Amino acid sequence: MKLLHLRWLAPLLWLAGCSGTGEQTLNDTSTPTPVQDIHSYARPDEAVVRHLDWEATVDFDTRQITAIARLDIETSGRVKELILDTKDLQIDKVTLDDNETELATFALGANNQHMGSPLRITIRPQTKRVNVHYKTGPGAEALQWLSPEQTAGKQHPFLFTQSQAILARSWVPIQDSPGIRFTYTASVQVPPQLMALMSAENPSQKSESGVYKFRMNQPIPAYLLALAVGDLEFASLGARTGVYAEPSMLKESAWEFAELDKMLEAAEQLYGPYQWERYDLIVLPPSFPFGGMENPRITFATPTILAGDRSLTSLVAHELAHSWSGNLVTNATWNDFWLNEGFTVYFERRIMEALYGRDYAEMLAQLGQQDLRHTVADLTEQGQAADTRLHLNLEGRNPDDGVTDIAYEKGYFLLRSLEERVGRQQWDAFVRRYFSENAFKSMTTERFIDYLTTHLLQPNGLSREAVQLDQWIYEEGLPKAMPTITSERFQRVDAALARWKEGTPASSLDTNQWSSHEWLHFIRNLPQELSRQQLAELDAAFGFTSSGNSELLAAWFMHTIAHGYEPAYPALERFLTNVGRRKFLMPLYRKLAETPEGKERALAIYRRARTNYHFVSSSSIDKVVGYKEVREPGN
Ligand code: BES
Ligand code: ZN
Repeated sequence: MKLLHLRWLAPLLWLAGCSGTGEQTLNDTSTPTPVQDIHSYARPDEAVVRHLDWEATVDFDTRQITAIARLDIETSGRVKELILDTKDLQIDKVTLDDNETELATFALGANNQHMGSPLRITIRPQTKRVNVHYKTGPGAEALQWLSPEQTAGKQHPFLFTQSQAILARSWVPIQDSPGIRFTYTASVQVPPQLMALMSAENPSQKSESGVYKFRMNQPIPAYLLALAVGDLEFASLGARTGVYAEPSMLKESAWEFAELDKMLEAAEQLYGPYQWERYDLIVLPPSFPFGGMENPRITFATPTILAGDRSLTSLVAHELAHSWSGNLVTNATWNDFWLNEGFTVYFERRIMEALYGRDYAEMLAQLGQQDLRHTVADLTEQGQAADTRLHLNLEGRNPDDGVTDIAYEKGYFLLRSLEERVGRQQWDAFVRRYFSENAFKSMTTERFIDYLTTHLLQPNGLSREAVQLDQWIYEEGLPKAMPTITSERFQRVDAALARWKEGTPASSLDTNQWSSHEWLHFIRNLPQELSRQQLAELDAAFGFTSSGNSELLAAWFMHTIAHGYEPAYPALERFLTNVGRRKFLMPLYRKLAETPEGKERALAIYRRARTNYHFVSSSSIDKVVGYKEVREPGN
């Protein structure tokens, strides 16, 4: 792809920086390094959006949002145009400042498959505000419109957004680059029986008129813009925490996340004050394509973490940790994605360690290491070894391609190796300082390396080479200095597995004290070769096929698919049609597609299930199962 807008930003890049809690200063020179974002048409060196005021009406009948995006901009003086990112938006008109009658000139550029179209608006040197009147398209990729049948309550429709990485532009015309931050206010009209929530200050009650007002005082990048509309209720969990869910899910959600306040406190103890005031969760319908999404003040979560035993709450620790790594210190471009996710996985495991102890967190780390080794092997095998580097090159590609375990787990293990090298005390002090000095700013990999060298390595008499930094970040595969993990709890699982392989009946294994993590380790490490009889024996002893734990089910189905274990077919089909979480769906469809009959079955299931999936899931799975039909509007 030819990149027309790939440019080094002039010294004026301060326009895209800011400092303090929501305070932005004009002479802030805090982002001195030139940053280019190959996934945005914006030219923040010329004109940058500082605040969004969004007036919107959500129409479930037409599955369309009609809105005005009023953008406060700052320009470097003589610029003639403001360039926004859009994708499939219908632009009705554009006006400047308070003059609603005089129409501004604008042009939508050619559509690029990943990036959408640049919206070029002619402005005057003194223009302070640009008002874009627009409608979302029928296939708006961030939006998932659900019919009542696709919700828990079956009575009301539902809408949620997923903006990361570059889908915000499909519902708001904006400078959609993680290096550009703005504050926002919004006024949203929804059907009166429904509640609207955004990544902002939120209501706890429905409004009779269906009009909701929002305010986000801290500057955020566009990928953290979020909206959910549905039949929702709120339950308070602590002074600063709570959960939103459909009424029939509220009680179990509140029970599952009862420890949220403790997590928040543990996080603050580790790495400094929480900067976003409240931290709430919303439990979405099962088609939500991710486990969780760290939308500021309100994490969006899949209902598949409602295991009934609080065993999958590390996901909440993960999204909470993003309130520092990601939402405060933000990857400057999607090539630096590992800075968001690697730090977050590290922080997540520290929160879990603080709450449940080292042996608990070590199980998570060991599962992560297994994932990492598999991912490195798979990518290498598929000729994509370049994607095993932490710093990615996503030029001409969808940033979604960079969402692999590399960013998460290789990132985690790099940071852990640094901790082990300098000791926890030094390391924690460094991380605390990193978050506070870089709060509300963006971070490139290069700047991170400089910061690390100055504030951690040099003071400890270490060089970049001594910690193999370049190897970790810029080279493929895994460095030799990979930390080793010993989990006694998993050693006991390994011992049980060995006994079973030697002939001890499954029902006589001592599994009494096992958490779902031990079970996951057990299932993952079952032998490659298994007879249907052995699968049946395991199933009879442990009831895997009827497990209510989504992680266990997904791991179990990998074996049942591989060995054609028919008793699990109906459960697999139910899982695939109900759950929209890409992390589960992709490996299962891939496994099915390994044989011709399997692929046929996969396609048959997929044809029925696809309407339940969000664009980010279906666009990935289409390729796996060879689905070719034109995308239906609204899905
Ligand atoms: N921010 C990510 C989700 C994401 C990444 C969306 C890239 C779009 C593009 C979120 O924090 C995340 O990592 N979710 C994980 C859960 C986590 C425990 C690893 C998920 O959804 O599985
Ligand atoms: Zn994450």
